[in-house]
Amino acid sequence: DDLDKLEDRPPVLTIMGHVDHGKTTLLDYIRKTKVAAAEAGGITQGIGAYKVQVPIDGKAQTCVFLDTPGHEAFGAMRARGARVTDIAVIVVAADDGIRPQTSEAIAHAKAAGVPIVVAINKIDKDGANPERVMQELSSIGLMPEEWGGDIPMVKISALKGENVDDLLETIMLVSELQELKANPHRNAKGTVIEAGLDKSKGPVATFIVQNGTLKRGDVVVCGEAFGKVRALFDDKGKRVDEAGPSIPVQVIGLNNVPLAGDEFEVVGSLDIARERAESRAED
Ligand code: GTP
Ligand code: NA
Ligand code: MG
Repeated sequence: DDLDKLEDRPPVLTIMGHVDHGKTTLLDYIRKTKVAAAEAGGITQGIGAYKVQVPIDGKAQTCVFLDTPGHEAFGAMRARGARVTDIAVIVVAADDGIRPQTSEAIAHAKAAGVPIVVAINKIDKDGANPERVMQELSSIGLMPEEWGGDIPMVKISALKGENVDDLLETIMLVSELQELKANPHRNAKGTVIEAGLDKSKGPVATFIVQNGTLKRGDVVVCGEAFGKVRALFDDKGKRVDEAGPSIPVQVIGLNNVPLAGDEFEVVGSLDIARERAESRAED
């Protein structure tokens, strides 16, 4: 019985907000990387998915972060990120306040019905005014917990790492209330968050497994694409044999490039997979 086999799964947390408000810098601090500085034009252009060990009360806890672009052209990616996440982390620069993609990201989180945690960023800057940001957020219906409302807001500097621990603790508290579970013992299903054609690997897709465990050799159908999983790579590009609930993984072996946002599932045979993919292609 499926219910007997439910186990805790790591939370999936999507970072969203207006362009240049510091989303990637926040993840860089958490992951101890320097991705933001290396991005072309300083602009994130795709969804990144990362498994991170976060120290909470001296214990390492796994969580998965999705980094989304803030540029207005990438609204579909923000919507997709909101649909696969457990919590939306909205980053607002304290020297800039609510901007169009801040409001858009909040709307995606609300449409997806996921809880919101706000990170008021860049508090180290001259001209930072976190109180004004809280005012602006409350005027659009996000009342800070500090003022008696129900939206946790943490004032941080992603660049200096100030209060990032508080933010992570807040996020983990909210995720604990959700009692996130999945059954790792069943066939995998989940969502394609990115896909493309790689010169040497062929069609490549990044999946987030939402239930079950995806294994090398499994037959998957996603949208109109299908195939046998030839290889799996984790978020660091390392080959792995399987990926359990909440875990992002890059998959090769598909016959075609699926659409980002497509759902995937493991089926019993290549014949079944082909039939399903073809019947979808006809619709
Ligand atoms: P997009 O993905 O393109 O939407 O941008 P982003 O939200 O990921 O912002 P990014 O991390 O690229 O940071 C934009 C700029 O703000 C960079 O120059 C960062 O160094 C700077 N920045 C980010 N966080 C802070 C902060 O806490 N303090 C200061 N002073 N600068 C910051
Ligand atoms: Na940027
Ligand atoms: Mg970015």
